[in-house]
Amino acid sequence: MTDSTNSADWRSEAVPNETSGRAAGKDRRTDSNGATVGGKVRQMSTGKLLVVDDDNNLVELVRVKLQSAGYEVATASKAEDAIEAAKGAVFDLCILDLRLADRSGISLMRELHSINPDMPVIILTGYGSVESAVEAMQEGAYNYLTKPFNTQELLLQIKRALENRRLNSEIQRLRGLLEEQFDFTNIVARSDKMRSVLDIVSRIANTESTVYLHGESGTGKEIIAKAIHLASPRRDNPFVAINCAALPETLLESELFGHEKGAFTGANRSTKGLFSQAHEGTIFLDEIGDMPPSIQAKLLRALQERQFYPVGSEKPVFVDVRIIVATNKQLEDEVAKGAFRQDLFYRLHVIPIHLPPLRERKEDIPHLADRFLKKLSQQMKKDVKGVTPQAMQKLMLYDWPGNVRELENTLEYAVAMTRQDMITEDSVLQTKNSLASANQEDLNPQMNIALKGPLKSYKEAKTLRRQSERSR
Ligand SMILES: Nc1ncnc2c1ncn2[C@@H]1O[C@H](COP(=O)(O)OP(=O)(O)O)[C@@H](O)[C@H]1O
Ligand SMILES: [Mg+2]
Repeated sequence: MTDSTNSADWRSEAVPNETSGRAAGKDRRTDSNGATVGGKVRQMSTGKLLVVDDDNNLVELVRVKLQSAGYEVATASKAEDAIEAAKGAVFDLCILDLRLADRSGISLMRELHSINPDMPVIILTGYGSVESAVEAMQEGAYNYLTKPFNTQELLLQIKRALENRRLNSEIQRLRGLLEEQFDFTNIVARSDKMRSVLDIVSRIANTESTVYLHGESGTGKEIIAKAIHLASPRRDNPFVAINCAALPETLLESELFGHEKGAFTGANRSTKGLFSQAHEGTIFLDEIGDMPPSIQAKLLRALQERQFYPVGSEKPVFVDVRIIVATNKQLEDEVAKGAFRQDLFYRLHVIPIHLPPLRERKEDIPHLADRFLKKLSQQMKKDVKGVTPQAMQKLMLYDWPGNVRELENTLEYAVAMTRQDMITEDSVLQTKNSLASANQEDLNPQMNIALKGPLKSYKEAKTLRRQSERSR
């Protein structure tokens, strides 16, 4: 930093001979954001800050310093003034004394955050009360400074906090774009976990690399495979899917690679296999872990040589396909057991994508429910408008071993059975006896559970942000 501000303690410093209201632009210094234009220093407002401390001298000192650095500054020495100020203007950052005369700093911070959730708060704390500062950070403060602190330190913290906030809103914006990009696929991805799945998808869709999807049944492996195909340059060519667990060995081989007329009993004419049908497109091999060893060998050869022989044929076939495989097994274990070829595993395990189970991303549930209800009530020509808060609580508390598919089926049944325009607790309970056993003590009828997930992840995001900040 080129800041020439001295680094003496606030408290030991004399108040500089400037009036606090003076425009920062006339100040002799530049800060990191100040630019020199035609030999004159031009300073832009680099942010609007709120300083809250019941020590008026300190507040004035901080105000002068921050204005010199180009910030717009408002001050308050009482909690209620701070709240008034926050209601009247949007602040980019707040500097808050933990020990105010009229209220605890933490509870004030909570209220300020309820007015402006994105505003970073830097806590000021006396020597010896670091514990409460740490508590404040757990409650969402950005960082803390122990008094006495120096100018450089404070300015650096502010700069970092604002930069962090800018990056976060940029991330939000990009995420919005990501969602729009995949809107056509109807994939719900509100949780951070599903968003990072879509983020990977958008990065790798353009490549030719083999994708390895793993996750429990019903987590969305197939819908993601389709999304990859649709986001790839192959989108106008075929997407062919086959479940390797669904067919006996001989049938699977001829399904995949085709056969010559007379290759086996009943082969009255030659057929093209799915690999040939997927030429210039994508083939999706579902339940790859259940592929019999003989076909594993043939698939490996096909991958290595980019050609294969249809059953009963000696003429090689060349195809250009992108391969996506999926499994709900721990394929590494199958390899260790000798049930799956290691060499094939490495060929397939190029871009692994994990689909998290629904119970690990419950904040997706209200949005999935919304999406499914719209679709289902249209299909069944019913006017179902939504899910009651009580029913939603049940949906949120259940663990969904069958993941998104189970949620979809549950709602399908509920929509089919209902005579009302809302899905009630009862209609969900009729479907899911298991939901009835959801722990009553966990239920809070006042709580709008639909908000619980996003709120939780917002907190999580904050914790992560703080951790990454501290490790800098
Ligand atoms: N994120 C999601 N958004 C919308 N629908 C989803 C999502 N994930 C799964 N589904 C739906 O749930 C059902 C099961 O998904 P699927 O892709 O077949 O899972 P898997 O292949 O992992 O068993 C499908 O009807 C699918 O459309
Ligand atoms: Mg599937």
